[in-house]
Amino acid sequence: MAEFQEKSTIVRREQLTGDVFRLTVHCPRIAAAAQPGQFVMVRAGETLDPLLRRPFSIHKVTGDGKLAVLFKVIGKGTRLLAAAMPGERLDVIGPLGSGFAPDPGGPHCLIGGGMGIAPLYFLAQHLLISGHGAANPPVLLGAQTQAELLLLAQEFSELGYPVLTATDDGSLGHPGLVTDLLDALLAEVRQVYVCGPLPMMRTVAGKCGQAGVACQVSLEAHMACGLGACLGCTFPASSGGFHHVCKEGPVFRAEEVLWSR
Ligand SMILES: Cc1cc2nc3c(=O)[nH]c(=O)nc-3n(C[C@H](O)[C@H](O)[C@H](O)COP(=O)(O)OP(=O)(O)OC[C@H]3O[C@@H](n4cnc5c(N)ncnc54)[C@H](O)[C@@H]3O)c2cc1C
Ligand code: FES
Repeated sequence: MAEFQEKSTIVRREQLTGDVFRLTVHCPRIAAAAQPGQFVMVRAGETLDPLLRRPFSIHKVTGDGKLAVLFKVIGKGTRLLAAAMPGERLDVIGPLGSGFAPDPGGPHCLIGGGMGIAPLYFLAQHLLISGHGAANPPVLLGAQTQAELLLLAQEFSELGYPVLTATDDGSLGHPGLVTDLLDALLAEVRQVYVCGPLPMMRTVAGKCGQAGVACQVSLEAHMACGLGACLGCTFPASSGGFHHVCKEGPVFRAEEVLWSR
């Protein structure tokens, strides 16, 4: 699969909450080749500190060569990216990894928790374009508070998806875990796509397994290179051994993952 390195101009910077940001960058070759569930490696800043690029899911792609990443400030790299302004340039490599493999049949259910919502928007866009978005059950979105969810939920709605939300503090939607919302939908779903914290994905994989519903999960691992060279991004495989998340993933079928690690 083709990968590109582009000096991308930031065309838009949005601050969704105190620590959640969205950067839209113009990188036409990466945007044209990107598939939902793939990611980019972004150099944060112009100096050698931090040395390593940071991985981010491709959140949105537009027909005019732009893509967006949605991220929470965690440490030095994301702090630098959050301070980057429109007109500045970012060094981006992508699209990387193996993304979602949408089942041609539906109904499809997308479940995102926290920043795990990021790749699901691109998947939702893709399902619509390929004619599989209509008449799906609600997209399930969870976060700590409503501030993180409001704009994103609205954007899924604008695509035409029904949306159900859950927040830890009860400030929006179901007060509690987003996974609680899945039970009522499983009987009508053929394929579940999930990205979020590991315990959330483990729960969704378990529920889907019991119900006989196919499930694809997008895993996170620490990534030094993102290119298959450092072998640092391992995750235990159900067949024994390890997956290399950056090359074989980040998306896997739930049954390929050893959840009991
Ligand atoms: C394939 C992939 C896609 C991702 N997509 C997104 C996204 O769309 N939005 C988003 O906000 N984040 C995403 N992440 C996580 C993001 O890459 C990290 O939050 C970021 O690299 C942190 O960089 P930093 O320099 O700010 O923090 P660091 O200074 O590098 O780290 C700060 C702390 O966070 C921990 N940490 C760093 N990276 C990870 C990780 N990958 N998993 C668990 N703990 C980590 C470190 O151990 C450290 O304790 C993704 C990660 C992967 C592997
Ligand atoms: S991050 Fe280096 S091999 Fe996966």
